[in-house]
Amino acid sequence: MPEPIVIIGAGGHGREVEHLIRAINAVRPTWTVSGFVDDAPTAAATALVRRLGSDIIGGLDEIRTRPPGAYVIGIGDGAARRRIDALMSESGWWAAVLVHPAATIGHDVELGPGSIVCAGVTATTNINCGRHVHLSRTCAIGHDSTLEDYVTVHPLASVSGTVHLHAGVTIGTTAAVLQNLTVGAGSVVGAGAVVVNDVPAGRTVKGVPAR
Ligand SMILES: CC(C)(COP(=O)(O)OP(=O)(O)OC[C@H]1O[C@@H](n2cnc3c(N)ncnc32)[C@H](O)[C@@H]1OP(=O)(O)O)[C@@H](O)C(=O)NCCC(=O)NCCS
Repeated sequence: MPEPIVIIGAGGHGREVEHLIRAINAVRPTWTVSGFVDDAPTAAATALVRRLGSDIIGGLDEIRTRPPGAYVIGIGDGAARRRIDALMSESGWWAAVLVHPAATIGHDVELGPGSIVCAGVTATTNINCGRHVHLSRTCAIGHDSTLEDYVTVHPLASVSGTVHLHAGVTIGTTAAVLQNLTVGAGSVVGAGAVVVNDVPAGRTVKGVPAR
């Protein structure tokens, strides 16, 4: 019996999460989307959500008064996911893990609550992902890597083996992080960058090599 789930965030990423749920359901009916939760939906986002046959069912405060169930956060910003995760968990809601059927997930890959793995992602072996880690379309995560809570890896990025991404790190689209490196908490690796040295916490680096 499919289980109800709410998607928090009615923007583009949230609607891509709806697409991910459809792909999972096409293989095995698993979820029924109860609707989208958004504190300030634009008219355009509302219209687009309705075109998917769904609707915006309220804001965070409102949803948290309802009997708890499964939720997923369709928001690309890791800091926002951290804040929303705290609120939803406090209200007894639980974060679903969503893995696209066209993702390749190896052995001993741990995905924390709320993690999202999109189509074409490859995560090989002995990988540890924390809460609400988002792996976007076709990114690659190498062996023995650790992705702490609220990490975001954008499309086509490559995280090599034995990399440690601390909490809230964002890896931009098509960026590469070379093997054995660490990216400090909250840092952002720009699109197309190649990280060749450890990155301290709270930095934005870009370019080749990334600086
Ligand atoms: C690097 C990034 C985080 C922005 O950093 P920022 O310091 O705020 O950058 P700004 O937009 O203020 O631009 C500052 C300068 O960096 C350059 N720049 C911006 N992004 C860059 C990138 N990825 N690589 C190289 N240079 C970049 C700008 O052209 C600008 O150059 P200038 O000063 O010579 O004009 C952002 O551009 C980025 O790459 N984010 C990743 C986005 C992504 O992957 N999205 C995927 C969505 S699915």
